[in-house]
Amino acid sequence: MIATHNPGKLAEMRELLAPHGVEPVSAGELGLSEPEETGDSFRANAKIKAVAAAMAAQLPAFADDSGLVVDALDGAPGILSARWAGPTKDFTVAMTRIERLLQERGATTPEQRKAHFVSALCVAWPDDHLEEVEARADGTLVWPPRGVAGFGYDPMFMPDGFARTFGEMTSIEKHGLPPLGLGLSHRARAFVKLAEICLAPR
Ligand code: IMP
Repeated sequence: MIATHNPGKLAEMRELLAPHGVEPVSAGELGLSEPEETGDSFRANAKIKAVAAAMAAQLPAFADDSGLVVDALDGAPGILSARWAGPTKDFTVAMTRIERLLQERGATTPEQRKAHFVSALCVAWPDDHLEEVEARADGTLVWPPRGVAGFGYDPMFMPDGFARTFGEMTSIEKHGLPPLGLGLSHRARAFVKLAEICLAPR
């Protein structure tokens, strides 16, 4: 099962798992409640979500904790990335806040606007063992936001080596794996590591 209530992440994870013949159910579909993310790192929060789901459903549970780390903001929003969007999950608000803080710090050049997404993945098995991996995608923050694809902070994140934001890329471009895509996103990269550890070859 996939331990997420985030529809954007769920869609990406389903696409990543499909070639391995895994057809997951989601925590939302099983009516499981979301545990509190009390960890102080992406890795700790992924583990909290995976373990809670594996225990509740007695199924192998796959969880991700991810977020955007902005160099000029000392790593913010980091593990608070979802919370910066507030209760209505409005990422225009969260992106505007980042931009305001960058302006306040005089971060105007691409070099001063470096950021990366992090994805920590954890698979928890009902017999108590765990697999944990982490990966990142590096890029630059642009303003104004561009594109309507993806979710969260995608429209302001331009991955290194590209002139388009994640918000301007198709899902295959953003997180598709070779030969279809480039395996660009943090989740795709972490997923490749995890697949090597515990999934049947594609
Ligand atoms: P959490 O892992 O559920 O705590 O949420 C992480 C938050 O980070 C998400 O709600 C998004 O706002 C942001 N985030 C994580 N991955 C991505 C991504 O691939 N694109 C854009 N935003 C992301």
